[in-house]
Amino acid sequence: MAPFLRILGIETSCDETAAAVVERDAEGVPTVRSDVVLSQLEEHSAYGGVVPEIAARAHVEALDTLIDEALKRANVSLSDIDAIAATSGPGLIGGLLVGLMTGKAIAKASGKPLYAVNHLEGHALTARLTDGLSFPYLMLLVSGGHTQLILVRGVGEYERWGTTIDDALGEAFDKTAKLLSLPYPGGPAVERAAKAGNPQRFKFPRPLVGEAKLNFSFSGLKTAVRQAATEIAPLTDQDVADICASFQDAVSRTLKDRIGRGLERFKTLYPDVEQPALVVAGGVAANLVVRGTLQALCDKNRFRFVAPPLHLCTDNAVMIAWAGLERMATGVAPDDLDVQPRSRWPLDSSAETLLGFGKRGAKA
Ligand code: KG4
Ligand code: ZN
Repeated sequence: MAPFLRILGIETSCDETAAAVVERDAEGVPTVRSDVVLSQLEEHSAYGGVVPEIAARAHVEALDTLIDEALKRANVSLSDIDAIAATSGPGLIGGLLVGLMTGKAIAKASGKPLYAVNHLEGHALTARLTDGLSFPYLMLLVSGGHTQLILVRGVGEYERWGTTIDDALGEAFDKTAKLLSLPYPGGPAVERAAKAGNPQRFKFPRPLVGEAKLNFSFSGLKTAVRQAATEIAPLTDQDVADICASFQDAVSRTLKDRIGRGLERFKTLYPDVEQPALVVAGGVAANLVVRGTLQALCDKNRFRFVAPPLHLCTDNAVMIAWAGLERMATGVAPDDLDVQPRSRWPLDSSAETLLGFGKRGAKA
Protein backbone atom coordinates (compact mmCIF):
# COMPACT_ATOMS: atom_id res chain seq x y z
CA MET A 1 0.00 0.00 0.00
CA ALA A 2 1.31 3.42 -0.95
CA PRO A 3 0.70 6.40 1.33
CA PHE A 4 -2.18 8.75 0.49
CA LEU A 5 -0.69 12.00 -0.85
CA ARG A 6 -2.26 15.34 -1.68
CA ILE A 7 -0.21 18.12 -3.31
CA LEU A 8 -0.81 21.78 -4.15
CA GLY A 9 0.83 22.70 -7.48
CA ILE A 10 1.84 26.17 -8.74
CA GLU A 11 2.86 27.03 -12.33
CA THR A 12 4.11 30.46 -13.50
CA SER A 13 6.96 29.73 -15.94
CA CYS A 14 5.52 31.39 -19.04
CA ASP A 15 2.17 33.01 -19.85
CA GLU A 16 -0.23 30.85 -17.85
CA THR A 17 -0.81 31.40 -14.14
CA ALA A 18 -2.05 28.13 -12.66
CA ALA A 19 -2.79 26.33 -9.38
CA ALA A 20 -4.11 22.82 -8.79
CA VAL A 21 -4.67 20.17 -6.14
CA VAL A 22 -3.89 16.55 -7.07
CA GLU A 23 -3.99 13.47 -4.86
CA ARG A 24 -3.24 9.76 -5.06
CA ASP A 25 -4.91 7.16 -2.86
CA ALA A 26 -3.40 4.11 -1.19
CA GLU A 27 -4.21 1.96 -4.25
CA GLY A 28 -2.26 4.37 -6.40
CA VAL A 29 -5.35 5.87 -8.06
CA PRO A 30 -4.85 9.58 -8.86
CA THR A 31 -7.55 12.27 -8.69
CA VAL A 32 -7.36 15.83 -9.94
CA ARG A 33 -9.25 17.73 -7.22
CA SER A 34 -8.91 21.13 -8.88
CA ASP A 35 -7.26 22.64 -11.94
CA VAL A 36 -7.31 26.44 -12.29
CA VAL A 37 -5.56 28.17 -15.21
CA LEU A 38 -5.56 31.84 -16.14
CA SER A 39 -4.14 32.51 -19.60
CA GLN A 40 -2.43 35.83 -20.32
CA LEU A 41 -3.02 35.49 -24.06
CA GLU A 42 -4.83 38.82 -24.33
CA GLU A 43 -2.12 40.75 -22.48
CA HIS A 44 0.52 39.55 -24.96
CA SER A 45 -1.34 39.27 -28.26
CA ALA A 46 -0.75 42.92 -29.26
CA TYR A 47 3.01 42.23 -29.13
CA GLY A 48 2.93 38.99 -31.13
CA GLY A 49 4.73 37.08 -28.37
CA VAL A 50 5.17 36.80 -24.61
CA VAL A 51 6.59 39.95 -22.97
CA PRO A 52 8.46 38.79 -19.83
CA GLU A 53 7.79 41.95 -17.78
CA ILE A 54 4.06 41.89 -18.51
CA ALA A 55 3.97 38.15 -17.73
CA ALA A 56 5.64 38.57 -14.32
CA ARG A 57 3.26 41.37 -13.31
CA ALA A 58 0.23 39.39 -14.40
CA HIS A 59 1.39 36.39 -12.33
CA VAL A 60 1.79 38.61 -9.22
CA GLU A 61 -1.71 40.00 -9.65
CA ALA A 62 -3.44 36.65 -10.16
CA LEU A 63 -1.57 33.97 -8.23
CA ASP A 64 -2.89 34.39 -4.66
CA THR A 65 -6.50 34.40 -5.82
CA LEU A 66 -5.88 31.40 -8.05
CA ILE A 67 -4.37 29.36 -5.22
CA ASP A 68 -7.36 30.20 -3.00
CA GLU A 69 -9.66 29.17 -5.82
CA ALA A 70 -7.79 25.87 -6.34
CA LEU A 71 -8.09 25.01 -2.63
CA LYS A 72 -11.74 26.03 -2.57
CA ARG A 73 -12.66 23.98 -5.65
CA ALA A 74 -10.80 20.99 -4.18
CA ASN A 75 -12.74 21.53 -0.96
CA VAL A 76 -9.57 21.38 1.15
CA SER A 77 -7.56 23.79 3.27
CA LEU A 78 -3.78 24.11 3.52
CA SER A 79 -3.74 21.81 6.54
CA ASP A 80 -5.08 18.99 4.32
CA ILE A 81 -2.13 19.32 1.91
CA ASP A 82 0.97 17.12 2.23
CA ALA A 83 3.36 19.27 0.18
CA ILE A 84 3.63 22.26 -2.14
CA ALA A 85 5.11 21.86 -5.62
CA ALA A 86 6.13 25.00 -7.54
CA THR A 87 7.75 25.28 -10.97
CA SER A 88 11.27 26.61 -10.51
CA GLY A 89 12.53 26.36 -14.11
CA PRO A 90 13.06 26.45 -17.00
CA GLY A 91 11.18 29.55 -18.12
CA LEU A 92 10.98 33.32 -17.77
CA ILE A 93 12.81 34.28 -14.60
CA GLY A 94 10.32 36.93 -13.42
CA GLY A 95 7.40 34.52 -13.53
CA LEU A 96 9.43 31.71 -11.93
CA LEU A 97 10.36 34.02 -9.06
CA VAL A 98 6.70 34.85 -8.41
CA GLY A 99 5.59 31.19 -8.30
CA LEU A 100 8.56 29.83 -6.37
CA MET A 101 8.52 32.63 -3.77
CA THR A 102 4.80 32.09 -3.24
CA GLY A 103 5.41 28.34 -2.86
CA LYS A 104 8.18 29.01 -0.33
CA ALA A 105 6.01 31.42 1.65
CA ILE A 106 3.17 28.88 1.86
CA ALA A 107 5.61 26.11 2.80
CA LYS A 108 7.19 28.24 5.52
CA ALA A 109 3.86 29.43 6.95
CA SER A 110 2.23 25.99 6.89
CA GLY A 111 5.29 23.93 7.82
CA LYS A 112 4.73 21.70 4.75
CA PRO A 113 7.56 20.49 2.51
CA LEU A 114 8.34 22.26 -0.76
CA TYR A 115 9.21 20.59 -4.07
CA ALA A 116 10.89 22.86 -6.65
CA VAL A 117 9.72 21.19 -9.84
CA ASN A 118 11.27 21.22 -13.31
CA HIS A 119 8.51 22.29 -15.72
CA LEU A 120 9.70 19.70 -18.26
CA GLU A 121 9.38 16.95 -15.66
CA GLY A 122 5.75 18.02 -15.27
CA HIS A 123 5.16 17.49 -18.99
CA ALA A 124 7.16 14.25 -18.94
CA LEU A 125 5.17 12.58 -16.15
CA THR A 126 1.63 13.73 -17.08
CA ALA A 127 0.89 10.57 -19.07
CA ARG A 128 1.28 8.51 -15.89
CA LEU A 129 -1.50 10.54 -14.30
CA THR A 130 -3.80 10.47 -17.33
CA ASP A 131 -3.04 7.04 -18.81
CA GLY A 132 -1.23 5.14 -16.07
CA LEU A 133 1.84 4.61 -18.29
CA SER A 134 4.71 2.62 -16.85
CA PHE A 135 8.39 3.38 -17.43
CA PRO A 136 10.18 3.53 -19.83
CA TYR A 137 8.53 5.55 -22.60
CA LEU A 138 9.30 8.32 -25.08
CA MET A 139 7.96 11.86 -24.79
CA LEU A 140 7.83 14.51 -27.47
CA LEU A 141 7.32 18.02 -26.14
CA VAL A 142 6.32 20.49 -28.84
CA SER A 143 5.34 23.89 -27.43
CA GLY A 144 6.07 27.56 -27.98
CA GLY A 145 9.23 27.28 -25.88
CA HIS A 146 10.45 23.72 -26.37
CA THR A 147 10.91 20.97 -28.94
CA GLN A 148 12.41 17.96 -27.22
CA LEU A 149 12.37 14.21 -27.56
CA ILE A 150 12.96 12.69 -24.13
CA LEU A 151 13.41 9.14 -22.92
CA VAL A 152 11.56 8.87 -19.60
CA ARG A 153 13.19 6.03 -17.66
CA GLY A 154 11.79 6.78 -14.21
CA VAL A 155 11.05 9.63 -11.82
CA GLY A 156 14.12 11.87 -12.04
CA GLU A 157 15.64 9.71 -14.81
CA TYR A 158 15.50 11.45 -18.16
CA GLU A 159 17.62 11.29 -21.29
CA ARG A 160 17.26 14.02 -23.84
CA TRP A 161 17.56 12.42 -27.27
CA GLY A 162 16.89 15.54 -29.29
CA THR A 163 16.16 19.23 -29.00
CA THR A 164 15.88 22.22 -31.30
CA ILE A 165 19.09 23.97 -32.24
CA ASP A 166 17.20 27.21 -32.98
CA ASP A 167 13.44 27.86 -32.89
CA ALA A 168 10.88 25.74 -31.08
CA LEU A 169 8.18 24.26 -33.31
CA GLY A 170 5.39 26.41 -31.82
CA GLU A 171 7.62 29.43 -32.30
CA ALA A 172 8.06 28.48 -35.99
CA PHE A 173 4.26 28.37 -36.36
CA ASP A 174 3.96 31.75 -34.60
CA LYS A 175 6.65 33.39 -36.74
CA THR A 176 5.19 31.97 -39.95
CA ALA A 177 1.79 33.36 -38.97
CA LYS A 178 3.31 36.78 -38.26
CA LEU A 179 5.03 36.82 -41.68
CA LEU A 180 1.69 36.10 -43.31
CA SER A 181 -0.16 38.67 -41.15
CA LEU A 182 -2.20 35.96 -39.45
CA PRO A 183 -3.24 36.51 -35.79
CA TYR A 184 -1.29 35.44 -32.66
CA PRO A 185 -0.94 32.70 -31.46
CA GLY A 186 0.01 31.55 -34.91
CA GLY A 187 -0.41 27.78 -34.63
CA PRO A 188 -4.21 27.63 -34.76
CA ALA A 189 -4.28 30.36 -37.47
CA VAL A 190 -1.78 28.52 -39.70
CA GLU A 191 -3.67 25.25 -39.23
CA ARG A 192 -6.97 26.92 -40.15
CA ALA A 193 -5.55 28.61 -43.25
CA ALA A 194 -3.80 25.40 -44.37
CA LYS A 195 -7.10 23.55 -44.69
CA ALA A 196 -7.82 25.33 -48.00
CA GLY A 197 -4.23 25.08 -49.21
CA ASN A 198 -2.13 22.91 -51.51
CA PRO A 199 0.68 21.27 -49.50
CA GLN A 200 2.62 20.49 -52.67
CA ARG A 201 2.83 24.01 -54.09
CA PHE A 202 5.99 25.02 -52.23
CA LYS A 203 8.92 22.70 -51.58
CA PHE A 204 10.13 23.98 -48.23
CA PRO A 205 13.30 22.55 -46.64
CA ARG A 206 13.08 19.70 -44.13
CA PRO A 207 15.93 20.62 -41.82
CA LEU A 208 18.20 17.90 -40.42
CA VAL A 209 16.27 15.09 -42.14
CA GLY A 210 18.60 12.12 -42.41
CA GLU A 211 20.89 13.24 -39.54
CA ALA A 212 21.74 10.51 -37.05
CA LYS A 213 21.45 12.90 -34.07
CA LEU A 214 17.79 13.45 -33.28
CA ASN A 215 17.88 17.26 -33.07
CA PHE A 216 15.43 19.65 -34.72
CA SER A 217 15.90 22.95 -36.56
CA PHE A 218 13.10 25.21 -37.74
CA SER A 219 14.62 28.61 -38.43
CA GLY A 220 15.61 27.70 -42.04
CA LEU A 221 12.03 26.71 -42.70
CA LYS A 222 10.85 30.10 -41.46
CA THR A 223 13.37 31.85 -43.76
CA ALA A 224 12.15 29.79 -46.73
CA VAL A 225 8.58 30.84 -45.94
CA ARG A 226 9.66 34.48 -45.88
CA GLN A 227 11.43 34.14 -49.25
CA ALA A 228 8.44 32.45 -50.87
CA ALA A 229 6.07 35.08 -49.48
CA THR A 230 8.29 37.94 -50.67
CA GLU A 231 8.66 36.48 -54.17
CA ILE A 232 4.94 36.20 -54.84
CA ALA A 233 3.76 39.29 -52.91
CA PRO A 234 1.09 40.68 -52.76
CA LEU A 235 -0.39 37.48 -51.35
CA THR A 236 -3.91 36.31 -52.11
CA ASP A 237 -5.84 34.23 -49.56
CA GLN A 238 -5.02 31.19 -51.70
CA ASP A 239 -1.29 31.99 -51.60
CA VAL A 240 -1.45 32.22 -47.78
CA ALA A 241 -3.34 28.92 -47.61
CA ASP A 242 -0.82 27.20 -49.92
CA ILE A 243 2.15 28.51 -47.91
CA CYS A 244 0.56 27.32 -44.64
CA ALA A 245 -0.26 23.88 -46.08
CA SER A 246 3.27 23.52 -47.52
CA PHE A 247 4.79 24.66 -44.20
CA GLN A 248 2.80 22.02 -42.29
CA ASP A 249 3.81 19.42 -44.85
CA ALA A 250 7.50 20.21 -44.29
CA VAL A 251 6.98 20.06 -40.49
CA SER A 252 5.19 16.75 -40.80
CA ARG A 253 7.95 15.19 -42.94
CA THR A 254 10.62 16.45 -40.54
CA LEU A 255 8.81 14.97 -37.54
CA LYS A 256 8.33 11.68 -39.40
CA ASP A 257 12.06 11.35 -39.96
CA ARG A 258 13.26 12.56 -36.54
CA ILE A 259 10.68 10.77 -34.39
CA GLY A 260 10.75 7.66 -36.61
CA ARG A 261 14.44 7.28 -35.80
CA GLY A 262 13.65 7.82 -32.12
CA LEU A 263 11.10 5.00 -32.12
CA GLU A 264 13.60 2.68 -33.74
CA ARG A 265 16.28 3.57 -31.20
CA PHE A 266 13.81 2.86 -28.39
CA LYS A 267 12.97 -0.57 -29.81
CA THR A 268 16.66 -1.44 -30.12
CA LEU A 269 17.32 -0.32 -26.56
CA TYR A 270 14.24 -1.97 -25.04
CA PRO A 271 13.35 -5.00 -27.17
CA ASP A 272 11.45 -6.52 -24.23
CA VAL A 273 9.04 -3.65 -23.57
CA GLU A 274 5.76 -5.20 -24.69
CA GLN A 275 3.83 -2.04 -25.41
CA PRO A 276 6.22 0.82 -26.16
CA ALA A 277 4.61 4.26 -26.06
CA LEU A 278 5.16 7.75 -27.45
CA VAL A 279 3.58 10.57 -25.46
CA VAL A 280 3.04 14.01 -26.97
CA ALA A 281 2.76 17.25 -24.98
CA GLY A 282 2.73 20.99 -25.62
CA GLY A 283 0.42 23.33 -27.52
CA VAL A 284 1.47 22.10 -30.98
CA ALA A 285 -0.02 18.72 -30.02
CA ALA A 286 -3.38 20.37 -30.83
CA ASN A 287 -2.45 20.42 -34.52
CA LEU A 288 -4.30 17.69 -36.38
CA VAL A 289 -1.64 17.29 -39.10
CA VAL A 290 1.05 16.85 -36.43
CA ARG A 291 -1.17 14.42 -34.50
CA GLY A 292 -2.01 12.46 -37.65
CA THR A 293 1.68 12.17 -38.53
CA LEU A 294 2.61 10.91 -35.07
CA GLN A 295 -0.34 8.52 -34.92
CA ALA A 296 0.58 7.00 -38.32
CA LEU A 297 4.21 6.70 -37.27
CA CYS A 298 3.23 4.93 -34.06
CA ASP A 299 0.84 2.58 -35.89
CA LYS A 300 3.60 1.66 -38.34
CA ASN A 301 6.10 0.99 -35.54
CA ARG A 302 3.58 -0.71 -33.22
CA PHE A 303 3.87 2.02 -30.60
CA ARG A 304 0.98 3.19 -28.48
CA PHE A 305 0.35 6.89 -29.19
CA VAL A 306 -0.66 8.75 -26.04
CA ALA A 307 -2.00 12.31 -26.28
CA PRO A 308 -3.31 13.50 -22.88
CA PRO A 309 -6.34 15.86 -22.99
CA LEU A 310 -5.22 19.18 -24.43
CA HIS A 311 -5.62 21.20 -21.22
CA LEU A 312 -3.07 18.84 -19.61
CA CYS A 313 -0.77 18.95 -22.68
CA THR A 314 -0.42 22.73 -22.46
CA ASP A 315 0.89 24.56 -19.40
CA ASN A 316 -1.04 23.81 -16.20
CA ALA A 317 -0.43 23.25 -12.49
CA VAL A 318 -1.86 19.71 -12.38
CA MET A 319 1.33 18.40 -13.98
CA ILE A 320 3.46 20.30 -11.46
CA ALA A 321 1.47 18.94 -8.50
CA TRP A 322 1.71 15.46 -10.03
CA ALA A 323 5.49 15.70 -10.55
CA GLY A 324 5.84 16.80 -6.91
CA LEU A 325 3.65 13.89 -5.84
CA GLU A 326 5.69 11.37 -7.84
CA ARG A 327 8.91 12.71 -6.33
CA MET A 328 7.52 12.57 -2.82
CA ALA A 329 6.16 9.04 -3.38
CA THR A 330 9.56 7.90 -4.69
CA GLY A 331 11.22 9.16 -1.52
CA VAL A 332 12.95 12.18 -3.05
CA ALA A 333 13.80 14.69 -0.29
CA PRO A 334 11.99 18.04 -0.43
CA ASP A 335 13.93 21.14 -1.48
CA ASP A 336 15.46 23.64 0.94
CA LEU A 337 13.68 26.97 1.18
CA ASP A 338 16.73 28.71 -0.28
CA VAL A 339 16.30 26.93 -3.62
CA GLN A 340 16.62 29.37 -6.53
CA PRO A 341 14.66 29.56 -9.82
CA ARG A 342 16.59 28.67 -12.98
CA SER A 343 15.68 30.12 -16.38
CA ARG A 344 17.64 27.27 -18.02
CA TRP A 345 17.34 23.86 -16.46
CA PRO A 346 17.73 20.85 -18.75
CA LEU A 347 15.96 17.72 -17.54
CA ASP A 348 18.97 15.72 -18.58
CA SER A 349 21.97 17.42 -16.99
CA SER A 350 24.37 15.38 -19.14
CA ALA A 351 22.88 16.76 -22.37
CA GLU A 352 24.98 19.38 -24.12
CA THR A 353 23.67 22.94 -24.09
CA LEU A 354 22.78 23.98 -27.61
CA LEU A 355 22.93 27.56 -28.75
CA GLY A 356 19.33 27.98 -29.68
CA PHE A 357 16.99 26.42 -27.20
CA GLY A 358 13.63 27.54 -28.49
CA LYS A 359 12.84 30.26 -26.04
CA ARG A 360 9.84 32.22 -27.13
CA GLY A 361 9.70 36.00 -26.82
CA ALA A 362 8.03 39.02 -28.32
CA LYS A 363 11.30 40.17 -29.84
CA ALA A 364 11.87 36.85 -31.62
O1 KG4 B 1 2.29 24.55 -24.63
P1 KG4 B 1 1.78 25.88 -25.03
O2 KG4 B 1 0.33 26.18 -24.83
O3 KG4 B 1 2.51 27.03 -24.29
C1 KG4 B 1 3.80 27.41 -24.22
O4 KG4 B 1 4.63 27.10 -25.08
O5 KG4 B 1 4.03 28.13 -23.25
O6 KG4 B 1 2.14 26.08 -26.56
C2 KG4 B 1 1.81 27.23 -27.26
C3 KG4 B 1 2.31 27.04 -28.68
C4 KG4 B 1 2.21 28.33 -29.51
O7 KG4 B 1 3.42 28.50 -30.20
C5 KG4 B 1 1.06 28.01 -30.46
O8 KG4 B 1 1.17 28.68 -31.70
C6 KG4 B 1 1.18 26.51 -30.61
O9 KG4 B 1 1.52 26.04 -29.34
N1 KG4 B 1 -0.10 25.93 -31.04
C7 KG4 B 1 -0.26 25.31 -32.24
C8 KG4 B 1 -1.64 24.97 -32.32
N2 KG4 B 1 -2.25 25.40 -31.17
C9 KG4 B 1 -1.28 25.97 -30.40
N3 KG4 B 1 0.61 25.03 -33.20
C10 KG4 B 1 0.14 24.41 -34.29
N4 KG4 B 1 -1.17 24.06 -34.47
C11 KG4 B 1 -2.09 24.33 -33.52
N5 KG4 B 1 -3.36 24.00 -33.70
ZN1 ZN C 1 5.19 23.83 -21.03
